[in-house]
Amino acid sequence: MILSSILLSSLLLFFLLFQWRHPKDHRLPPGSMGWPYIGETLKLYTQNPDYFFSKRQQRYGNIFKSNILGCPCVMISSPEAAKTVLVSQAYLFKPTYPPSKERMIGPEAIFFHQGDYHSILRNLVQASFLPSALKGSVSHIEQIVMKMLSTWKNKKKVNTLQEMKSYAFEVAMISAFGDKMDNEMEGIKKLFLCLEKGYNSLPLDLPLTPYRRAIKARKILSETLRRLIERRRESRNYDGGLLGVLLGGKQQRLNELSDSQIADNIIGVIFAAHDTTASVLTWVLKYLHDNVDLLETVRKEHEGIRRKLVEIGRGLIWDNTRHMPLTDRVIQETLRRASILSFTFREAVRDIEFQGYLIPKGWKVLPLFRCIHHSADLFPQPNIFDPSRFEVPPRPNTYMPFGNGVHSCPGSELAKLEILILLHHLTISYRWQVLGGGDGIQYGPFPVPKGGLRIKVTPNNQTLIT
Ligand code: HEM
Repeated sequence: MILSSILLSSLLLFFLLFQWRHPKDHRLPPGSMGWPYIGETLKLYTQNPDYFFSKRQQRYGNIFKSNILGCPCVMISSPEAAKTVLVSQAYLFKPTYPPSKERMIGPEAIFFHQGDYHSILRNLVQASFLPSALKGSVSHIEQIVMKMLSTWKNKKKVNTLQEMKSYAFEVAMISAFGDKMDNEMEGIKKLFLCLEKGYNSLPLDLPLTPYRRAIKARKILSETLRRLIERRRESRNYDGGLLGVLLGGKQQRLNELSDSQIADNIIGVIFAAHDTTASVLTWVLKYLHDNVDLLETVRKEHEGIRRKLVEIGRGLIWDNTRHMPLTDRVIQETLRRASILSFTFREAVRDIEFQGYLIPKGWKVLPLFRCIHHSADLFPQPNIFDPSRFEVPPRPNTYMPFGNGVHSCPGSELAKLEILILLHHLTISYRWQVLGGGDGIQYGPFPVPKGGLRIKVTPNNQTLIT
């Protein structure tokens, strides 16, 4: 009896494993589903993503199946297929995130929606980050940069990633709340740090875990934001940043957004804005450090601008940031080479026939930005950092550091502005040396130079301009 039940369970287990690794429909794309439940998650999140993707691409082609975070998925790495998913047939592929992440940010945030609610939010968020809205922030961002840089020269070593996180966070806070800070701001910053730790940890809702602490912080954050929203509603104060725009939505003949809708979107935008930008900023410093001649030419571009500003006696304005062509190309190449968002997630809303294969309803679909940006056919010698490749615009739909289609990044101009302003002051007034090799990469959540890129910063004594 015992023997036969062991035999039966073994057969059942073998059958399940076999089914898992070989889902039976022959119309599915080729690929491996990895181990039950964990699938290929560990490999994807611990290996160099280039190795993970290129191995599978070589073996299976541009469309292959896998299993990530307990979900069966299809990975796609051709520009045409990515365009279909993100743009031309976007209605068949809804945005999707793990429930633990949705809980942290808040279910009413822009990322999780499609249709009317998404387009209302999208118009409001975009309005906050249009060049016309950003123009007024240049001098404020410049002040933040100058204050931060002045502390660097006194430090034995600077952890670039940590500094860039604080910088990007401060800018994100101004974008969200405006530059007149309420009393709650310090508290909000602390709650955010706790939330972020939980967001990037295993979703274990147990005492003392970062995830449990983050859930608590999320509750307090909601209450704090609710008080702040109530006060601004009462005083009819619609001036401050994205919050002002969301509160004033009614004036644009939209239904008034509820407090929780506003809070989820404020939290979501601050989240989306700071780690991403900080990681890219860290890579820019690494690439410029490793390409000495390029750094000198970038420095000259900024010295030319600074000389004119000194003559007329003022700081940077928006128009100056529109005339930094070489620095612009350095940023474009950094976004391509580092591809910090290797891919995004969508979910098939029904069974879909896709380039001769079946994508079953509920399967995740991952357009692989990183593979497209590192394809030698589209970007020759993809591992070489060469901003001059952007002297000619890339082919449409082959360059997507900010995504593509209705969910593409509304904060791209702000992110670029932050990088331009930082590079302007850093290259003119300072020199930096990477400490301890600095050639490895760490992943979590985005790929960044190992240890966050530790540098030693010294004033640039050769500068004639102050
Ligand atoms: C260099 C820095 C950044 C990078 C590389 C980046 C990248 C991206 C990408 C690839 C997407 C599309 C995701 C998808 O299709 O699923 C996205 C969406 C988004 N980003 Fe960014 N982003 C950056 C900075 C920012 C900033 C500064 C903000 C704040 C204003 C921001 C706010 C958002 C929002 C709200 C969305 C969701 C849009 C929607 O669902 O309609 N991002 N970002």
